[in-house]
Amino acid sequence: MVRWLREPLPMLDDLSARYGTAFSIKVPRLPQPMVFFSDPAAVKQIWSGDPEDLRAGEANVILRSVLGGNSLLLLDGARHLRERRLMLPPFHGERMKAYGTAMRDATMRELERWPIGKTISFAESMQSITLEVIMRTIFGVGEEAKLAPLRDALVRWTTLGTSRIGTAMLLLVPPDQAERLQRFARSGLGRLLPWAPLVSAQQETDRLVRELIAARRVEDTTGREDVLSMLLAARDERGQRMTDDELRDEMLTMLVAGHETTATTLAWTIHHLLEHPAWLAKVRAQLAEVVGDRPVEPGDLERLTLLDATIKETLRLTPIIPLVARRVAKPMTIGGYDLPVGAIAMASIYLVHRRADLWPDPTRFDPMRFVGAKIDPTHYFPFGGGTRRCLGMAFANYEMKVVLATVLSRVQLGAAPGPRIKVVRRGITLAPSDGMPVVVTRRGA
Ligand code: HEM
Repeated sequence: MVRWLREPLPMLDDLSARYGTAFSIKVPRLPQPMVFFSDPAAVKQIWSGDPEDLRAGEANVILRSVLGGNSLLLLDGARHLRERRLMLPPFHGERMKAYGTAMRDATMRELERWPIGKTISFAESMQSITLEVIMRTIFGVGEEAKLAPLRDALVRWTTLGTSRIGTAMLLLVPPDQAERLQRFARSGLGRLLPWAPLVSAQQETDRLVRELIAARRVEDTTGREDVLSMLLAARDERGQRMTDDELRDEMLTMLVAGHETTATTLAWTIHHLLEHPAWLAKVRAQLAEVVGDRPVEPGDLERLTLLDATIKETLRLTPIIPLVARRVAKPMTIGGYDLPVGAIAMASIYLVHRRADLWPDPTRFDPMRFVGAKIDPTHYFPFGGGTRRCLGMAFANYEMKVVLATVLSRVQLGAAPGPRIKVVRRGITLAPSDGMPVVVTRRGA
């Protein structure tokens, strides 16, 4: 367990070298083992199995104290299906153009703040952009006066949530105890506990998000394009609206699932680009041809094939989430192994992405693997798969292209001096160390 927390990837490498494409770990607290699969045939079974028998919500239970019991990530069965249907329309690929301007403008504002010749944390800067984008496109908050308190609360909450104490609370404390510890931290002496600031930041975020929902309910939302307004107008097949509790949990889910994940992938992409200057030059040359000096437009994105391949290769080699989990609810055989009820079946993103038979010379960064290629969803799945595949995949891909196209066509970056970048754990994601330091060498491409 200690090794899993401290160095998850070397541990997965060692176990797969020793035991092959299926192995299991017994962890304290879980009565049944966690079983890791890295064989595409087993992954296919996990994607296509009945969601009633392979339950993602139950496997994600550690997130309950953070996101609330109505979160899409925590639901299974009919409730998951209902909620997912209500949430799909704002995330449909076609909708992305409506969010493109907010994504580009947030990037341009952030670029203005970058000092020339000084080291900055690229990961932190990307977090500012992805948070701003979520507040404008998902929460629909535009005016600075309303944005500032929400931004402050969200920054405080997500920073504390991904700190050591936040990560330990998430991964080590069982959900019911976490909720008890949270209640205690809100009272009297409890305020002195080390996790009390995290609990108070969560409470403040909760208060502001609930206020936002209440205010938006009574506003005229005709013509509004943000996700919250679309969810407020949505009705299920029985004509029912989402409740305030459901909306709160889903707003926090989209924030937690979409903010750090996208920012960290952007940071890994810059890491790989700076390590491969010849490829970076090719990406820039295509950007110069397609975008030139003007701001990036939605129509440019599908012509930026090399940038697209760069992001895909980054997510192959350094996926920020190394596995997806399903709790087995009925005895079944996966990959030739009989699993009991309660076992956690894992499709190992990291191990499948590094199989030499699927990806020749797997540790080499080579985006050309993805140019013009059709990829099998059991060989490559950074966004998970089956009925639970990431809801925000189109959103994240669109945002990453807009942000990188804007950055790379406006500034030149270099790696900052210092130790080699390694993988570190931040909450549930795997990030580049030291906040991915870079130096802005000059403005203009
Ligand atoms: C590079 C960025 C991202 C990565 C790598 C990523 C990855 C993932 C993964 C691996 C899952 C689990 C899938 C499974 O269990 O099969 C997931 C689920 C989810 N993601 Fe993302 N994600 C990203 C960005 C986003 C964004 C931007 C949003 C929303 C704004 C989002 C919202 C969600 C939601 C709501 C789920 C739960 C879906 C369900 O259970 O039905 N994600 N994501």
